[in-house]
Amino acid sequence: MNVHDSEKMVGVLKKDGYSQTDNLREADLIIFNTCSIRQKAEQKFYSELGRIKAIKNERPGLRIAVAGCIAQQEGKALLKKVPHVDFVFGPQNIHMLKDIDIHVSTNVFLEENPAIAEHDLPVNREDDLRAWVTIMYGCNNFCSYCVVPYTRGREKSRPSQNIYGEVNGLAKRGYKEICLLGQNVNSYKSNISFSNLLRQLDRIGGIERIRFVTSHPKDLSPELIMAVKESVKVCEHIHLPLQSGSDSILHGMNRGYTYNDYIGKVFTLREKVPDISITSDIIAGFPGETEVDYLDTIRALKEIEFDGIFAFKYSQRPFTKAAGMQQQVEEHVKSERLDEILKLQDEITIRKNRALENTVQEILVEGLSETDKTKSSGRTRSNKIVNITEPNIARGTVVDVMITKARKHSLEGRPVGL
Ligand code: 5AD
Ligand code: SF4
Repeated sequence: MNVHDSEKMVGVLKKDGYSQTDNLREADLIIFNTCSIRQKAEQKFYSELGRIKAIKNERPGLRIAVAGCIAQQEGKALLKKVPHVDFVFGPQNIHMLKDIDIHVSTNVFLEENPAIAEHDLPVNREDDLRAWVTIMYGCNNFCSYCVVPYTRGREKSRPSQNIYGEVNGLAKRGYKEICLLGQNVNSYKSNISFSNLLRQLDRIGGIERIRFVTSHPKDLSPELIMAVKESVKVCEHIHLPLQSGSDSILHGMNRGYTYNDYIGKVFTLREKVPDISITSDIIAGFPGETEVDYLDTIRALKEIEFDGIFAFKYSQRPFTKAAGMQQQVEEHVKSERLDEILKLQDEITIRKNRALENTVQEILVEGLSETDKTKSSGRTRSNKIVNITEPNIARGTVVDVMITKARKHSLEGRPVGL
């Protein structure tokens, strides 16, 4: 989401006559697009911001802006706390970049912006093969650990005709894959449902693959599962954050489902869409998480066998309900649990990948492998990276590949019939 927001910031500024530079010393304006989902992300930002101070001292004309979720969260206080910051704007205020004079601006732009979904911003895309497409903004779920509803505001869906128009334009420009973006894509609500949006986009010629992130388990409807099954271009992969395998923790997190509800949906997904890859997010050490709760998560991971997970230690976030809960779990306990979770999942991931050995997979080739220039690299429909023993396959080509070896983070294979 932040990568795509940055593409919009560059898009707006370029339209205004600016150009982008990788050289900090050359820049008139430096924008930090920040994330505050966990404290670690915040710490990273503050240390980067500290490093930039010397450049600002050398060149007082340089403007420094802070964008994104930390900007929204800290607001005016950030200007006081860090005097070398000139202005701050939140994720709902990217559009204001087109109106301000950066050379004089010292201000905060943090208003709720319900019109965000109606006014499309120019996008300067970093990739010419795969494109992010926002379909909805904000989040109404208020999971008790999560800062996003406070920084990105209320849910708002883009009209489907705007999305259709954007994807059509991308197809004409040669894009092969689109990834629909939203904090909670399956609660997309406009003139049509999310399932029908997928079915509509599926008919756009030129696009080979359609993905979407992130889905919320409580909103994963039978219609959506059927749309994934029946749409040719919609890939057999879903990222479906479980967060915990314990019902009492799920309740405390305000997730709106039980472990049984979740496993039922996994069962249906696998029944209707054979070979679907399912990935997930897990939080270790949510307040009140006992050894028994943690073991419920371990049991869940063994039972479900995700293709991969992102796992994190619980992090206390401002404004959130969980931050004020008694019984915060000790840091070393969180670390131990996280380590065990990751270790277990590594074994499962490699096992899942091995099951692909000697199967033929459809690969969208992205170019030469970064680590081995004698190979091409691409992804399966299930979003796994495959290195192919053939360097001369054009970027954007779809090829069938026999998987010869599985590793933890990638697969190897050779083209079939080339
Ligand atoms: N602490 C730890 N992990 C968090 N996430 C969101 N908020 C927190 C938090 N306060 C994780 C969730 C979510 C992913 C994007 O980040 O697992 O699915
Ligand atoms: Fe955060 Fe929950 Fe919304 Fe995801 S669904 S952004 S975890 S509040």
